[in-house]
Amino acid sequence: MKIIIVENYDQLSEKAFEVMKEVIDSKENPVLGLATGSSPIGLYKCMIEDHKKNGTDYSKVTTFNLDEYVGLDKHHSQTYYTFMHENLFEGVEIPEENVQLPLGNGDLEQNCKDYEKAMEDYEVDIQLLGIGSNGHIGFNEPGTSFDSLTHVVELKESTRKDNARFFDPLGEEVPTHACTMGIATIMKAKKILVIANGDNKADAVYNMVKGEVTEDCPASILQNHPDVTLIVDSAAGKRL
Ligand code: F6R
Repeated sequence: MKIIIVENYDQLSEKAFEVMKEVIDSKENPVLGLATGSSPIGLYKCMIEDHKKNGTDYSKVTTFNLDEYVGLDKHHSQTYYTFMHENLFEGVEIPEENVQLPLGNGDLEQNCKDYEKAMEDYEVDIQLLGIGSNGHIGFNEPGTSFDSLTHVVELKESTRKDNARFFDPLGEEVPTHACTMGIATIMKAKKILVIANGDNKADAVYNMVKGEVTEDCPASILQNHPDVTLIVDSAAGKRL
């Protein structure tokens, strides 16, 4: 694992952008695995700025997102569909038919199978990951099998608490379930880029890098991937 420790969130976002941009520039039809949450917002801002300033073309980019909440209307303000359109897709003008997210409504089992199947036709060139304070990747909570494919999960209370900041202002509860790429799905990516910032990630980052490879810390499986770059700020990296 290549580990880069920077001072702050801005530097983290710029470094992550360099890694992402190198992949986008080196492929004719880049396939990006993408994440939501607070961690990638700065990186996505850099991608939008670069698209606007330098004309980096996203018309041949295909994207697969890690996860989606179950039970929210697609256009609800807190779906990952909405998040991605607001924070990246509209800004880089990626064609709608090139973007994929798991579907959180309807026949969920079938949706998960269809998503996994859709991904089989592609090879993800770079998978971006944030990490949960409990070591989750995607919504693969502690205890998830390392062999898991795209599936429906019940979210842990700690994860729902972490994400309540987005739902509280709406007077709504965080959904109880989500659809997520599985750990085996994530591990198929050619390259993985993990970003983490802030004190509350320090233990998870430590366990991911230096802990035992165990399903109790889903991110620890990344020790077995041949091409992982981890970028952390000094707070998240303080135990490394
Ligand atoms: C998001 C995702 C999650 C987040 C993780 C960290 O698509 O799959 O694993 O990456 O919960 O979230 P933030 O970045 O909000 O701290």
